Amino acid sequence: MVELDGRPVGLLASLDQDAPRLNYDRIFLRDFAVASIPLLIEGETEIVRNFLLACVEMQSREEPFDCFRPGKGLMPASFRPVDDGSRLDADYGEDSIARVTPVDSVFWWMLVLRAYVKKTGDKELAARDDVREAMRLIVELALTARFEMYPTLLTPDGSFMIDRRMGVYGHPLEVQALFFAALRAAHELMPADEPHQKHVGKRVQHLVYHLRQYYWVDPGRLEALRKGKVDQYGEQDGNIFNIYPDAIPTWAGGWVCDGAGYFAGNVGPGRLDYRFFSHGNLLAALFGLASDEQTQAIARLFEIRRDDLLACMPLKLVYPAFEDRDWQIETGSDPKNRPWRYHNGGSWPFLLLPWTAACLRAGRADLAAEAVEQAGPHLAADDWPEFYQGVDGGAVGEQARRRQIWSAAGWLGANLLLENPSEAEAFSWPADIEPKPC
Ligand code: GLC
Repeated sequence: MVELDGRPVGLLASLDQDAPRLNYDRIFLRDFAVASIPLLIEGETEIVRNFLLACVEMQSREEPFDCFRPGKGLMPASFRPVDDGSRLDADYGEDSIARVTPVDSVFWWMLVLRAYVKKTGDKELAARDDVREAMRLIVELALTARFEMYPTLLTPDGSFMIDRRMGVYGHPLEVQALFFAALRAAHELMPADEPHQKHVGKRVQHLVYHLRQYYWVDPGRLEALRKGKVDQYGEQDGNIFNIYPDAIPTWAGGWVCDGAGYFAGNVGPGRLDYRFFSHGNLLAALFGLASDEQTQAIARLFEIRRDDLLACMPLKLVYPAFEDRDWQIETGSDPKNRPWRYHNGGSWPFLLLPWTAACLRAGRADLAAEAVEQAGPHLAADDWPEFYQGVDGGAVGEQARRRQIWSAAGWLGANLLLENPSEAEAFSWPADIEPKPC
């Protein structure tokens, strides 16, 4: 637990003393967001409140046009106390490998704020001038003019949980799910007369339509893509992204069947990334971005593809991994992301939390309970590793940190949810947004 001026303000990413500290001695916003769930459930609210206000303090207020400064409204990927715990040093990517700037931090912050307010009833925090201003800046950062005309958010490579090159630039599912939920949170927490409220409300409707229509993959969609027209202009055809049938990978056909379905990893011009990303799909189910039927289909996929996705240790971040030439091209021959390792098909215990919440949403507590129960003794014996590797996810990851905070939080949070499923209400929404085409 990290303190600022003697008050708890966050949790370090890892407590592993044997591995090089690198940047694991920082508080990552996304890692803390996951950890805030068990903290809030257990009534540890002060640290969450302090974290929220510290992020407001660090949020960039830079005026536009300086390309070397974080954009106005941005929040850091991570921070650490300096000068004997009297000041926080924020990293917007300047200190990270490949200098990747986080897109997801502001959205995680908004989700933590909403969960905090729901759990504590402390609406005054969200009504404070500085917190309201922070929300407004985030909404402006996300909704203002840009170079394209889709409801989704254009995202650079490696700018979220996957923070290394992995072919996740463009419109990655995970960022769209977080963006959607952050807008829902903003709509709930900002006063009705706030100038951007109307646009926020419309954007969530467009996002629901867009994701359910263009990202969804199931046998019916694959068939439509196989038979769909290509090279059509404007409004003439439903294949608006001009996806070519020959690009459907051979594995995808038989893999998704028998009532299962999922959201593709990425959609853009001429591009449907058919890979299955667990985190984005689970978040889509929790935030009501997936319809109730789609949530059932995602749970079904986990059930029929248990060996691929849960494997020995839950839960695969992405399936399948890039191999051979794909690995060379898409990761830039990154040794840490060799096939079935780390981001490229490694298994991440923090996912147990969203996985359990999504299973409960789908009425499949049985699926979650079994996996959580089996994982517990291994996680403890392995000292809470950051990730596992191998096609079967059976070995502790090379270079994986032990005593990783969000691995422990994922398992703990999953258990707390299984004990009391209603706790998930603080960080989820029903699928009640009416989809609206553009
Ligand atoms: C790695 C992960 C990132 C995480 C950080 C701290 O960089 O890719 O998602 O936030 O470690 O745990």
